[in-house]
Amino acid sequence: MKQIAMLINARDTLSHIRPEIYGHFAEHLGRCIYGGIFVGEDSPVPNVNGIRSDVAEALRHIRVPAVRWPGGCFAEEYHWRDGVGPREQRKKVVNVNWGGVVEDNSFGTHEYMELCRQIGSKPYINANLGSGTVREMEEWVEYVTAAGTPMAELRAANGHPEPWQLPYLGIGNENWGCGGQMTPETYAAEYRKYASFCRDHQGNRLHRIACGPSSADYHWMEVLMRSLTGTGGGCGLACGIDLHYYTMPIWPEMDSATDFDDKLHYATMDSAFFTDELLTRHTEIMNRFDPENKIGLVVGEWGCWHQVEPGTNPGFLYQQNAMRDALVAAIELNIFNRHSGRVRMANLAQTVNVLQSLLLTEGDKMVKTPTYHVFDLYKEHQDGTLVYCYTDGDKAADGYKAPMISSSCSVKNSVMTLTLANCSLTEAAQIDCDVCHFPADTVRARILTADTHAFNDFGHPDDVVIQPWKAEWQDGRLSVVLPSCSVMEITLRKA
Ligand code: AHR
Repeated sequence: MKQIAMLINARDTLSHIRPEIYGHFAEHLGRCIYGGIFVGEDSPVPNVNGIRSDVAEALRHIRVPAVRWPGGCFAEEYHWRDGVGPREQRKKVVNVNWGGVVEDNSFGTHEYMELCRQIGSKPYINANLGSGTVREMEEWVEYVTAAGTPMAELRAANGHPEPWQLPYLGIGNENWGCGGQMTPETYAAEYRKYASFCRDHQGNRLHRIACGPSSADYHWMEVLMRSLTGTGGGCGLACGIDLHYYTMPIWPEMDSATDFDDKLHYATMDSAFFTDELLTRHTEIMNRFDPENKIGLVVGEWGCWHQVEPGTNPGFLYQQNAMRDALVAAIELNIFNRHSGRVRMANLAQTVNVLQSLLLTEGDKMVKTPTYHVFDLYKEHQDGTLVYCYTDGDKAADGYKAPMISSSCSVKNSVMTLTLANCSLTEAAQIDCDVCHFPADTVRARILTADTHAFNDFGHPDDVVIQPWKAEWQDGRLSVVLPSCSVMEITLRKA
């Protein structure tokens, strides 16, 4: 058993953990939207206005704060008018990015807003810069948020007289790649034009988000920040820069989601832990150009990208989700919390049936992945204040970089939430933590622990689930055993 000393100081308050850090991403890709979220009103699968009731309930439970839609690369070929009006008259197109299947546009703007309403999430529309026009994007914003204009009348004719709120607008996706293969200079110039014409209508305030770098492309961040800072009042033309980083430990090869050895387990932890360096270096660039911290860093796509499951369409990116993925989620979310001074939003790719999903569905069956349970364990961080939390005696496995223990701690009202992950395959940790300036009355712990290969599936949905755990709390000292391969939430509560 490894002895680990920790120190938390509740008076050392660091930054606000915006709920949006716990955001998600749902693209028209494989079975994420169709079958995973939307089944249509006539489906035998229980639904409300076409949206699966089991999925909506599961998402409500973890308090999803924002869902990025409709892509991804799909967004860069999406034309919003194809997805409004009577469903039977909507245009059918080919989803050229993802499997070449027919996209019948039955899930469009109204259905997406209905999803957000049902799960209590803020909308985050990512609009098409690569193959769209300024006018098309401008009119989409008008359609969604305006009153008394031609687009508002069209929206009313399509069944929704009241404008919606649209807090987040992404302007382009991966414009260094599938969104047009642009240089950062070209994209920055295009972005300024598009962003200028996407207006704030009536009571709506748009936070415009620019396409950010792929992983460690610091040059992209530098060019964008130089071009976008000081472009108006508030956060100006850009309130966020959207970085994408996937955990792919043996890139350009792909690993299996469930069949991997110990080395690959630790390489995956390293790949997740690299996010800390990535955010530190991107933040340094942002600090140089924007010392007042007006522009937020958004991690608009993150998560494990494995091989597709054997026998499934390679264009659908359907993968299983093991305890290893849960550890990745736990490490990443602790890192996002710790960087919440600059990181304003993050969106796991993707919500249902695609990449590191929260939920898997098959017909009317649904299963919660280990990653889903991590979001459940971490949800009390949303809207909390990050406080100082230090871990001592914590080493990586031989030859690797990711520390054995990952942690973050926040305080909200009279509750302190500490989240911990132990990525060791073999060693448990005895955690002894001094907690300063938080005279709590009660302690509660919950744990997710299993073999790194363990996963939930339709025949065995509860192999990896949250269990209660024992923690001791006395005179400002917290003691708990953190088993190998585990993620834990500890709640200290003042009466
Ligand atoms: O999430 C799958 C794809 O990964 C998205 O469409 C794209 O933005 C990224 O490359």
